[in-house]
Amino acid sequence: MTEHILVAAAWPYANADIHVGNLTGSYLPADITARYHRMRGRKVLMVSGSDSHGTPITVRADAENASPKAVYERFHATFLKLFQDLGLTYDLFTSTHTQNHFRVSQTMFLALLENGFMYKASELQWYAPSQGRFLPDRYVEGTCYICGYEGARSDQCDRCGSLLEPDKLLNPRSKIDGSTPELRETEHFYLDLGRLQPQVQAFLEARTDYWRPNVVRQSLGQMKADSLRGRPITRDLDWGVPVPIDGWDGKCLYVWFEAVIGYLSASVEWSALTGDLQAWREWWHDPDAKSFYFIGKDNIPFHAIIWPAELIGAGTRFDELMGSQPPAELTLPYDVPANEFMNLEGQKISGSRNWAVWGADFLTRYDPDPLRYYLTVNMPESKDTDWDWEDFYKRNNDELVATWGNLANRVLSFCYKHWEGVIPQPGELTPLDRELLQAVEGGFRSVAAEMEAVRLRAALGEAMRLASEVNKYLDQTAPWQAIKSDRQAAARAIYTAIIAIDNLKLMLAPFIPFSSECLHSILGYEQPLFGRQTVETVTDELGEHQALRYHHEHNRDTWLPSRLEPGDRLNQPAPLFKKLDASMIAQERARLG
Ligand code: MF3
Ligand code: ZN
Repeated sequence: MTEHILVAAAWPYANADIHVGNLTGSYLPADITARYHRMRGRKVLMVSGSDSHGTPITVRADAENASPKAVYERFHATFLKLFQDLGLTYDLFTSTHTQNHFRVSQTMFLALLENGFMYKASELQWYAPSQGRFLPDRYVEGTCYICGYEGARSDQCDRCGSLLEPDKLLNPRSKIDGSTPELRETEHFYLDLGRLQPQVQAFLEARTDYWRPNVVRQSLGQMKADSLRGRPITRDLDWGVPVPIDGWDGKCLYVWFEAVIGYLSASVEWSALTGDLQAWREWWHDPDAKSFYFIGKDNIPFHAIIWPAELIGAGTRFDELMGSQPPAELTLPYDVPANEFMNLEGQKISGSRNWAVWGADFLTRYDPDPLRYYLTVNMPESKDTDWDWEDFYKRNNDELVATWGNLANRVLSFCYKHWEGVIPQPGELTPLDRELLQAVEGGFRSVAAEMEAVRLRAALGEAMRLASEVNKYLDQTAPWQAIKSDRQAAARAIYTAIIAIDNLKLMLAPFIPFSSECLHSILGYEQPLFGRQTVETVTDELGEHQALRYHHEHNRDTWLPSRLEPGDRLNQPAPLFKKLDASMIAQERARLG
């Protein structure tokens, strides 16, 4: 049976622009993985969307005197454009502000409630009499009762780093109008993580042998530290998914509780768009389907503990409430390959200080593949990394251009010139030629092994190492000299190099798809390597939303050695990448801060 692969990429908050740290943290590794599995002929579903609810959005809306909806729509539109320009091939990039997501997340809530994993409790919360409403924790500032800092948020102190108990804050004041809030009782639903603990623990333990060590450490550590207390999953807020219970007007599902449900709701929405309402079940009910969750390390508890707890707790009840037959358990995450953080020129990335490289701004000056390349060789897979403009410049010129782009361009231009663009007859291959071809073909196994284990840096490193082997081979065989004295030897070397390049193109394609597609067409192929992306308007009862959709053109295994042959025709070669001038380093650094 064809394998089913769910690629789940973190949902960006629709309240800020996207920078390189966000891209390398989750969206790019998700796309690389999705493209790779598609090339293997597997059935891939890559989903995500804008995280459009909660205080991150309302705080921004208040600051701009705009509605939360206007804020979400503005950023969502920029995400669609950026992701399309970067070639992020979401089968569906939607939003949490859709009727479908409301229905699916309310159904999850009810399934957990009916299965007894939800309870009600009251807590004290800051209330603003001046506005007649409860204030979210981050709307209330005051003096830290631990260190005395006067600008502490009610739930966290930025000076001493302590997590605070909101009701103990000294001299509280509302960030909205400076008025003094008072504590009032409010009732909320709690997810009963205590009762789900044994199953979550078992889920984690079954995965410790192949998960990244930092993810295992953080999630098991958290289980011990909190021994999973119940968590309130509703809020006194009117922007979000309403609690589907009578008498709970003015309360919404907590943004983290519902945002993770987005992976499931986006799959359901995608099914509806394809016209097969039940298609999502292939990824969510098949125990052999593999799901990969690409997130930054700050998201680990929500994906490795809370989301599995929701899935376990909802169980078959979710299907029963959705009317899906026959009801089945929901598939738990297979892997959560969380990344660490990327810094910038030795400092933490900070949007407010403009210490950031913004995705959209970058693309006004450079192409997407150099960005994807640099973000992969520098991906924070096991420790924090640093974006350094000089390093970017060197990696572009010395690796992408010199090792790979020039290799392809030199060989293909030479073939174009001396054999009229037709792959020459090599005659009998020598051991040297065969050795090279075998080494490169070995990449279909060695690169694949790294990709399967989501070691993307290592996978790209291996493909580039093989490209260097081809360069060495050409230094040895020197067809540019041989053409003058031994045309047959030159033909053999050029034929061998073209086959090697055709193979390397496939191994590099998940990382640098734009140039790979271009090279693919230079090599004479008529069918593209990948499908198309479109932005579409989807209408539901909540209104309209825009969605990015990737359309598969085929579902075949293309991770296979080259079948180009002598006599096959090439198209006119052109350079795949641009060499950068060293002056760009200082120019880019001057933009920071
Ligand atoms: N919006 C969150 C962030 O940017 C990520 C949410 S991932 C989700 O950190 F799955 F919860 F949606
Ligand atoms: Zn403090």
